[in-house]
Order: sequence, then structure tokens, then C-alpha cells
Amino acid sequence: MIYGKLSLKMRITFEEAVEELKKGGIIALPTETVYGLAASIYHPESIINIFLLKGRPADNPLIVHVSSIEQAKELMLEEPEGFKKLTKAFWPGPLTLVVPAHPSVPKSARAGLPTIGIRMPKHPLAKALIEEVGPLVAPSANLSGKPSATEPKHIEEDFGEALPLLDGGASTAGIESTILIRKEGRWHIARKGAITEEELSFVLEEEVPYLEKPEKPLCPGSHYRHYAPHAKLYPFEGQGDVIVGFSDRTYLPSMRVIEMGCLKEPASIAKGLYRALRMLDEEHIAKAWVDLDFPHTGILDAVHERLSKALKEST
Ligand code: TXA
Ligand code: MG
Repeated sequence: MIYGKLSLKMRITFEEAVEELKKGGIIALPTETVYGLAASIYHPESIINIFLLKGRPADNPLIVHVSSIEQAKELMLEEPEGFKKLTKAFWPGPLTLVVPAHPSVPKSARAGLPTIGIRMPKHPLAKALIEEVGPLVAPSANLSGKPSATEPKHIEEDFGEALPLLDGGASTAGIESTILIRKEGRWHIARKGAITEEELSFVLEEEVPYLEKPEKPLCPGSHYRHYAPHAKLYPFEGQGDVIVGFSDRTYLPSMRVIEMGCLKEPASIAKGLYRALRMLDEEHIAKAWVDLDFPHTGILDAVHERLSKALKEST
């Protein structure tokens, strides 16, 4: 019976999402970067379930999502230097700040660390939900190690159709938030993301170095497998039959091109990055060649970093 089958899809309404979170459930939540797997910070047992559902190592902390500066301050032990400048410029938006955690923040959310990652998402549904329910922990809504989810069908691929999902359309940025950590008295980029290094140094009026290999206790997530499809990936050097590439570049007619976006519009590449990587698995493609010949400037710096990790992980 077709309708019976369709109703198995757990697309939920905003009101159902509020109810589910308030009673300690987990839902897939749209944000402007990627979809998140959300639980209320007031339900530590559900936070543990998020780790189990994702297959996420227990020492890899989650980001807490807030809808106001007041909420953020309640989660912090003290306000680090530059907090006002950064939040004024980039919140709501794709910037996560790692700050000293207030002891009331559940240990499960911060994996026992004395710090907590906080961000205020811009997506109107995410913002409205947090206003109703309070702060939400939300890692990206993908199985640990897989590319992040930027469309509802990506979540269904990883978790099945029974997971309650609030459909907010395709994520507009398509790449995760930039994470900043304070070290030796200044902010450092712990994860490249949707806010660029150029934008950050402009606002802070100083250089914001990238922590290439942050020590594990400082940024545990950077030590785990990331962003990789099942397909084996190779750098494109003029040969190959399936190319992960660009709509405005010419490849040989015999090549099948899976487009990330167009080089003239870098934002379109960030938006289409995970969709392209996931398409390889959807189509059971065993091998693909990734076109890495593009400038590493602005948002493309983060795209290049994700693709390099995906390539490294696929070996
Ligand atoms: O755009 C995003 O940030 C998305 C959306 C859903 O908001 N979330 C996301 O979460 O990418 P996740 O869990 O996939 O990545 C969070 C990263 C991990 O690498 C984790 O190690 C780091 O944030 N992180 C969280 N809290 C931290 C802390 N206290 N210290 C250092 N790193 C932290
Ligand atoms: Mg993730």
C-alpha cells in the first residue's frame, strides 16, 4: 500500500520536533551548514544516544547550538577576549567558538573536556526550535566517518527512514562551521569551514593561524576518519572515467562528471561538495578521480581540505 509505505518516512512538523526534543528524543535538524542530529542539553541520556547512533568515539565532543548571546553566556565559565567582536560579526552563522565550559554543561556533551564548542545557527527553523526548547547539542547528521548530510535523503541513507527529520531543504552553505579555539592568548582555526580565514582576521584585526595538527585534547575531532565515501578516490591528473569536478571545466567526452559546482561561483562548490561525494555511493561507483586543481582561497580552502581528507581516508 503506497500511502502506508510513504507514511513510514518520519518527516515531522515543527511542533512535533519541539515535542520530541522536550521529551528527550533525537531528531535530524536543518542548519545552514549541514544537517545536525539534535538533542536537548537538558537530556544527558539522549546526548549519549547520539554518540551510539552515529558510532562516534566517546572522546569527541559535540557542539552546543544556542539562539541568543544570553544562552551562550550561561554555558560559559568566562567570556574570552574577542568573543564580542566575533559574535557580533558572525552570529547567527557558521562559526563555532570553543570556550571554557560552565560546570553545569553535561560532561557527555563536551566529552569530559573543560571547554565547550558553541554556535548560533542562522537557519530559521533551527533558531526557532532552540528558542522553544533551549540549547541543543548537534553533531553533523551522518554516520561517523561519512560525508556530512546536506539534504534529507542523506540522513535517510545513513540512519533509515524512521529517524524523525525536520525538513528544511538543502543546506545553503553545505560545509560545516569554522571552529575557533584559544591557545597561547589568541584565536586559532581548529577546523576550516564556512567562515574564511580572511573574514576572521579582518574582524579580529590579527592573523588567525590554522592549527594543522592540534593536540588531541585540544580538538579531538581532527584525529578521526572524516568525509569519506566508500568509493576509492584518486587525484585527477587527466585520466579516469568518473570525475568529481566542476560544471564550468571541460573534461574528455568519455568521462562521467559528478559536479560539485561551478568554479566561477565558489559557494556553489561548497554547497555541492558532500552531495557529490555521496552520489558516488548512491550509484555504487567503486573508483573516482577528484579534480583538485582549483585555488585554495576563501571558502575553497575548506573545500580543498575536506577533499584532501576524503582522498587520504579512502586509501
Ligand atoms: O556546522 C557545524 O558545525 C555542524 C552543524 C550541525 O552545526 N556540526 C558539526 O558537528 O559539524 P560535528 O560534531 O560533526 O563536529 C564538531 C567538531 C568536532 O570535530 C569536535 O571535535 C569539535 O567540533 N569540538 C566540539 N567541542 C569541542 C571542544 N570543546 N574542544 C575542541 N573541539 C571541539
Ligand atoms: Mg561531523
